[in-house]
Amino acid sequence: MSPPALARAAALLLMLLAPSHERDVYHKSRGVATPAASVPEVELDPQYWAAEAQAAIEARLAQRESKQRARNVVMFLGDGMSVPTLAAARTLLGQRQGVTGEEQQLAFEKFPTVGLAKTYCVNAQVADSACSATAYLCGAKANIATIGVSGRVSRAHCSAAADPQHHVHSIAEWALADGRDAGIVTTTRVTHASPAGAYAHTADRDWESDADVASDCGDARDAQHDIALQLVHSHPGDQFKVILGGGRREFLPNSTIDEEGTRGRRLDGRNLIEEWQENKRARNVSYQYVWNREQLLDAAAELPDYLLGLFEGSHMQYHMQADARTEPTLAELTEVAIRSLSRNERGFFLFVEGGRIDHAHHDNLAQLSLDEAIQLSEAVARAAALLGEEDSLLLVTSDHAHVMSVSGYSQRGRDILGPSDDTGDDGVPYMTLSYANGPGYRPEAPGRQDLTQHDYHDLSFAFPSSVPLESETHGGDDVAVFARGPHHSLFTGLYEQSQLPHLMAYAACIGPGRHSCTQP
Ligand SMILES: *[C@@H]1O[C@H](CO)[C@@H](O)[C@H](O)[C@H]1NC(C)=O
Ligand SMILES: *[C@@H]1O[C@H](CO)[C@@H](O)[C@H](O)[C@H]1NC(C)=O
Ligand SMILES: [Zn+2]
Repeated sequence: MSPPALARAAALLLMLLAPSHERDVYHKSRGVATPAASVPEVELDPQYWAAEAQAAIEARLAQRESKQRARNVVMFLGDGMSVPTLAAARTLLGQRQGVTGEEQQLAFEKFPTVGLAKTYCVNAQVADSACSATAYLCGAKANIATIGVSGRVSRAHCSAAADPQHHVHSIAEWALADGRDAGIVTTTRVTHASPAGAYAHTADRDWESDADVASDCGDARDAQHDIALQLVHSHPGDQFKVILGGGRREFLPNSTIDEEGTRGRRLDGRNLIEEWQENKRARNVSYQYVWNREQLLDAAAELPDYLLGLFEGSHMQYHMQADARTEPTLAELTEVAIRSLSRNERGFFLFVEGGRIDHAHHDNLAQLSLDEAIQLSEAVARAAALLGEEDSLLLVTSDHAHVMSVSGYSQRGRDILGPSDDTGDDGVPYMTLSYANGPGYRPEAPGRQDLTQHDYHDLSFAFPSSVPLESETHGGDDVAVFARGPHHSLFTGLYEQSQLPHLMAYAACIGPGRHSCTQP
């Protein structure tokens, strides 16, 4: 038999073996969704898949793993970037390019090593971004909502976190101790839980400004420094060469309005953006504060020693809704950070967060969430183009999952944002993307709504949820870890999330644990 004939025979056999209801589903077309891109003809031929697999074997055999010291480490964190988020985001990426989509790859999905990390926290089955940041940046699991402290500190304890004996130290600090540089980039407030894992020690992720500490701790507030204050005045935040993201309001007194109209939140009257500049001035180093894209690109032309960029009062805008004149993209931020940090011959540690994948999921806004994941992929591609595999370790992972699923038996290439080809037993169509809980719950009884009548491509369309909740929850699934560069194969397997900084530090020869090399 010729290969095509073989393929047809195999397909027929598969069809006969498939359960009958499944066959029905595959062939039903309700015509409500955007027409699917057609399946590439070559895929009908098993030789195509065999060749694809042989090419993959060749690529694996040709893969050389650098056993050099990882001079540079860039850790990318897709906040809430669950495995279903990856599957849906790559499909959306492909469909935007006019192909079926399922076969598309995000930039980091081409990395040679993939592993899985377990995300639970010391006292929580499902992680939040604070205890998970403590795990993947400081190397120890902690209690929910706490950052940079051990499991001995419980949430919102007003003095325990200030005690240095409870502190755990981040890989950014380990890099600095070795004479390397460090920086953070995020699309959230720079004081938000994930980036704070790189520099803060706090019993509560919500203590971003002194106003938050005061409201929880009253008179005991002096014991605990807020996260913004720690970033500007404490080690290691005061040594970070680049700090890029949102969150001006946490740095400004409540008597001031920032450049774009947001009121500061601080009650202590301090302007920490000015204090950051004074601190650098006193150290006789060059520095620059920028608050919009144009200033950032100007600063990038002649980089100061220290760069602080705060592009929003709170979080940066979703990429699909952002004012392109004032908001840099995550890829642009990443490039500026890498160019700045690369000036240190010894190397650097950079943390880059796509922080709003999570926020959009919490609102059941799947399209925005998937787009933010695609933005993270672009930032990774930018970093991969700037840094060599020989000496730079790139890691891409997530802090925790979400409860979005990709369901149904839709035909190949079906609009990932649209309804499944099938209907529920109630005869009503259901969406391919849906959530176990969240604000997309539609209480209008009787029965479920036919959402195909809604404009599900609108950015504000909330994908359906089964349980009413103002904010959709995180999920307890394992998260993927993608690695490229020196010692990448360390990251294979299934392991505790708290191993990540230890593994990175081993590859980079920094930190208190075992190293892959004798330090120069
Ligand atoms: C700022 O905070 C102070 C101290 O709590 C308060 O008295 C004042 O009313 C606040 N100002 C504004 C504009 O909210
Ligand atoms: C500050 O730096 C300038 C230029 O590098 C140098 O001339 C000056 O002596 C320095 N001042 C102090 C106090 O270190
Ligand atoms: Zn979240």
